[in-house]
This record gives sequence, structure tokens and C-alpha cells, in this order.
Amino acid sequence: MDYLKIFAPATVANVSCGFDSLGFAVDAVGDEMTFTKTAEKGVKITNITGADLTYNVDENAAGAVVKKMLNEANANFGIELTIHKGFSPGSGLGSSAASAAGAAFGANQFLGSPFSELELTKFAMFGEEVACGTQIADNVAAAIYGGFVLVRSYNPLEIIKLPVPLALRVVAIHPQIPIKTKDAREVLPIKIALKDAVTQWANVGGLISGLYTDNYNLISNSLVDIIVEPVRKEFIPFFDDVKNSALKAGALGAGISGSGPTIFALCKGDEIAEKVYKSIEESYKNTGIDFEMFVSKVNPKGIKILK
Ligand code: HSE
Repeated sequence: MDYLKIFAPATVANVSCGFDSLGFAVDAVGDEMTFTKTAEKGVKITNITGADLTYNVDENAAGAVVKKMLNEANANFGIELTIHKGFSPGSGLGSSAASAAGAAFGANQFLGSPFSELELTKFAMFGEEVACGTQIADNVAAAIYGGFVLVRSYNPLEIIKLPVPLALRVVAIHPQIPIKTKDAREVLPIKIALKDAVTQWANVGGLISGLYTDNYNLISNSLVDIIVEPVRKEFIPFFDDVKNSALKAGALGAGISGSGPTIFALCKGDEIAEKVYKSIEESYKNTGIDFEMFVSKVNPKGIKILK
């Protein structure tokens, strides 16, 4: 193989109740990346479009991952990378994760696929660390495995792929204000009350059970976050208005996508998703803040090969 083009999806981490442990992949939005094999060893980033990111391989989430994998596999060739961002860094949609996961997937193809999805997730987590200082797994695992994922354990890393009820749709609004994951993590509580932990872990269980049984009511009742959302929503102008508009229009639930500012709403079916889209759009259009929106299926497969 000399050339590869892939799609690396945007992802929604946390899914309300599952901070750092739940995520899902989006179908409609993501990055495109190309990989070209070179006789000369080493990694080079030759083009980045759609975002202002570093070409320095050691500081770029994608570049650093490819370099690490080629080194570990003792590859006798190099790779040239291009990255075409389909969505912005700082959106809360797993931008660095898409690059890191895409890089891990792509490099693996050139090496003859020696690494499992779990191993690719570990390499991609290294890319997350390069980009934002922490080895978070929820976005990268969702991009690599596709569908919904549960990070059952960080040490040792264990990822469980969860089912995707077919009628689930996601509507998202990205207010154009950047939030750094690092900043959004610094405000989080270090200790929480036991009664809050009980509420939260019961909702995680409820959500997972709802995904397995196609129980949209249970999914809806479980899309609640009483620990992280109350602190982080302060960074997101008009968060409550968006959430209320989504729920009023029939969304199963709504919350912050990853560390924000994107707000996501899960819906049952295209018709409700369309109503939720319009209702959210209406609630935001006079705020004076620019925004982008999309509606999408949940992406069941994760990264896709385009060429
Ligand atoms: N789970 C992480 C967080 C995702 O919420 O900080 C970062 O996008």
C-alpha cells in the first residue's frame, strides 16, 4: 500500500452521565486524512486545511501518533500526512481525537495491521496527551470502535462496544466560542457527595441498559448529568435555553458534548430530530453568537477508508 485516504469521525464524549467513560461517533462530521508512504524514514505533515494547527510532528496529535507507531514497529519506511479538518478544534467534538485516532488507524494499515483496536486506542490516547495534556479515552475509543463505547477501565484499558438503537439521531449546535478541554477540566470538583455518585452511576447503568434493549424511554430518563454539567454549563452562553428548546421539541435528552461548547441532543427518528434542530436554531439565532449546527446518525463503524 502506498496511499490511503480516510474519514475520522467527530465524537460526543461523556453522553451526559458518563464523564470520561462514555462516548459515541458521529456520521455527518469528521476529518479527512491522507497517508502517503515514503522510502525515506520519518513522518512529515505536508498540508493542514480547515484549522490552524502545528506542522511540528512531535506537537501535532496525528504526527506524534504516526511517529510513535512507526518507531515501535521499527518500520523501514516513512509517511507523509495531510489533515483536512471538517470541524474546529476547541468545539467539544473530539477534534484532536479524530486526528489521533485517524493517525493510529492509518499507520496501522501501512504496517500490515499488527495492532488491535484496543492498542490503536492506546496510541491515540498518546495523541490526546500531546494535544491537551491528558490521556483521555472516550473520544478516541468512539472514533476507533464506532457506535457507543464504554471505557470500562483505564488501567488496564478496557473498552466495551455498545449497541446503537437504529432510530437514534444526534442534533448538535456549536456556538463559535472556543473552550480548551484543559480549562474545562480545571473547574471540575475533586470530591462529590455519595448521593450524587449514586444518581450518576445509576444513570450510566440505565443508559447502557436502554441502548441494549432499544428502550428510548430509559435512554431519555438516564441522559442526566448532575456532576459535570452544572459546573461546565457556565462556560456556554444560553446553554439552558438550548437544552430546554431541545427537550420541548421532543429530544430524549441534551447535554454538553465533551468539554463543550457544543451542545448535543439525542432524538428518536428523523422527524423529531428535524423539529429539535429547528427549535434549537430558533433559540440561538438572536443571541448575537455565531453558531454551526448539524443533524446526524450515530456512526456505527468509526473510521472509514475512502481510498
Ligand atoms: N471526557 C473528556 C472531558 C472529553 O469531558 O473532559 C474531552 O473532550
